[in-house]
Amino acid sequence: MALSDIRRVLISDSLAPACAQILRSLGGIEVTETPGLSPQDLISHIQDYDGLIVRSATKVTSEVLTAGTRLKVVGRAGTGVDNVDVDAATKNGIIVMNTPTGNSISAAELTCGLILSLSRQIPQAASSMTQGKWDRKKYMGSELHGKTLGILGLGRIGKEVAIRMQSFQMKTIGYDPIIPPEVTAEFGVHQFPLEEIWGQCDYITVHTPLLPSTTGLINDAAFSKCKRGVQVINCARGGIIDEEALLRALKSGQCGGAGLDVFTEEPPRDRALVEHPLVISLPHLGASTHEAQNRCGEEIALQIVDLVKARALVGAVNAPALTKAFSPETKPWIRLAEAMGRLLHCLLPVVNGEVQVTTAGGALKNSGSFLCSAVAIGLLQDAEKKVNLVNSCFFGKETGIQVTSHHSSDSLETKLEVSGGGQRVIGGLSGDTPCLIQIGSSRFRTPVSLNGTLLLWRGETDLLKLVEVLAAARSQLQTFHVSGEYRVAEVSAPLSDVSPLGSCLQISLGLSA
Ligand code: NAD
Ligand code: MLT
Repeated sequence: MALSDIRRVLISDSLAPACAQILRSLGGIEVTETPGLSPQDLISHIQDYDGLIVRSATKVTSEVLTAGTRLKVVGRAGTGVDNVDVDAATKNGIIVMNTPTGNSISAAELTCGLILSLSRQIPQAASSMTQGKWDRKKYMGSELHGKTLGILGLGRIGKEVAIRMQSFQMKTIGYDPIIPPEVTAEFGVHQFPLEEIWGQCDYITVHTPLLPSTTGLINDAAFSKCKRGVQVINCARGGIIDEEALLRALKSGQCGGAGLDVFTEEPPRDRALVEHPLVISLPHLGASTHEAQNRCGEEIALQIVDLVKARALVGAVNAPALTKAFSPETKPWIRLAEAMGRLLHCLLPVVNGEVQVTTAGGALKNSGSFLCSAVAIGLLQDAEKKVNLVNSCFFGKETGIQVTSHHSSDSLETKLEVSGGGQRVIGGLSGDTPCLIQIGSSRFRTPVSLNGTLLLWRGETDLLKLVEVLAAARSQLQTFHVSGEYRVAEVSAPLSDVSPLGSCLQISLGLSA
């Protein structure tokens, strides 16, 4: 079933009403909203839905994804997809998409709020007032002016934090292994190697994803290299600052305060950090603004509507090769590539090893990756699993098929060649109809339209016998083509038995793309 065939969507977390409204009005999608479903209820209901939209509360586990036999898309209205088992989604042929920009400003503003709060202990002082105190000495703070802020992770949020804190005349330095120093210099952040960051900072804020390489990025060793009294902020993901190391540093005075919006366990059962007087903790509020929630809800809905209308694939985190695959112009090429894969599969006794996809013509210049996925679908036509553009290359590799692509600038003709195991097929489009142009080294005089059912022979064919067998099966011969030693017949209906036609192969091209 096509990835864009999305009729029913479940929203299982609390989302802005705009999300369901857009899905219904622009996508014609039936939407069910049941925030707070238990994991077991989600597993038992998910089979009825083509799409699932979540924030961070729903855990989209491998069990949920496997139970969702109709699922084609999981939409995460927010940035981090750590509550979605992305590998399991890919294996199950399910697109995972997020809205990475929708809440960046809100998360950045909250980070700045925590830096200000730490510098003057604003929440602690406000809370002491509610207890009837007037503690002017206890809450002596320090200015941000002239202090150094270290920003680890200089992507969307890190950049916005830097720009805002510069208006307090903070010096902003940072580290990011991907964003080049000349890019961060443009927004006022001088990059240093991590080892040189620690000793310079009065405040350190983290804005990375939670990865094996960022888990415990600020740990005992890092704290020991920091200025005494350094203050740290985590509005990214629990665990980037090692929580036990932080507690030790707070107790020893090496760390002078922490602002935490996120925790390794949410809500945290271990209350030691939350209850520490120098910690300002929040219940994961980075994206909790009306603006961010509206933006993320609207963006995820619009992305799904684009997919349903087969206009574009935006925000997919597990199918980057497919970004260009969902447009009316590319759809016929995907159908052709799948058909080419099927043809090659039929021509070879066993499909394994390397299959080469060669594109030619300017229109196919950057199409190699998604056409490889479409060819792999055709090659895996006998697979028992649900194979689609998301998981076909993954399953191909599992079964020993490696599909690689190459673009040839030599040809003026726009065409697609698929070769492997000593066989080669070449196809193109006639209007929007996928056509076979060539098998092996000889071209067909007229292209063979790749729709419906084809019969294929290598060598001579008994035409009288063919007409007789077709008549008995109430099928009709529509066209007959010759390419060197190959003969191809288009017939109006499939035959239940091709054995009377000798070494004839029957290929049904009811394509899925
Ligand atoms: P982003 O992808 O734009 O930026 C992350 C940056 O981290 C990237 O530039 C990457 O190169 C960098 N990075 C990766 N490994 C690193 C390392 N070892 N050291 C330093 N930098 C490293 O992401 P973003 O949109 O800015 O989001 C940042 C974090 O904030 C994510 O974890 C996201 O889930 C989280 N977030 C939290 C909230 C919240 O409610 N608290 C809201 C939105 C986003
Ligand atoms: C995110 O990654 O987008 C945030 O953690 C916000 C959220 O989950 O609400």
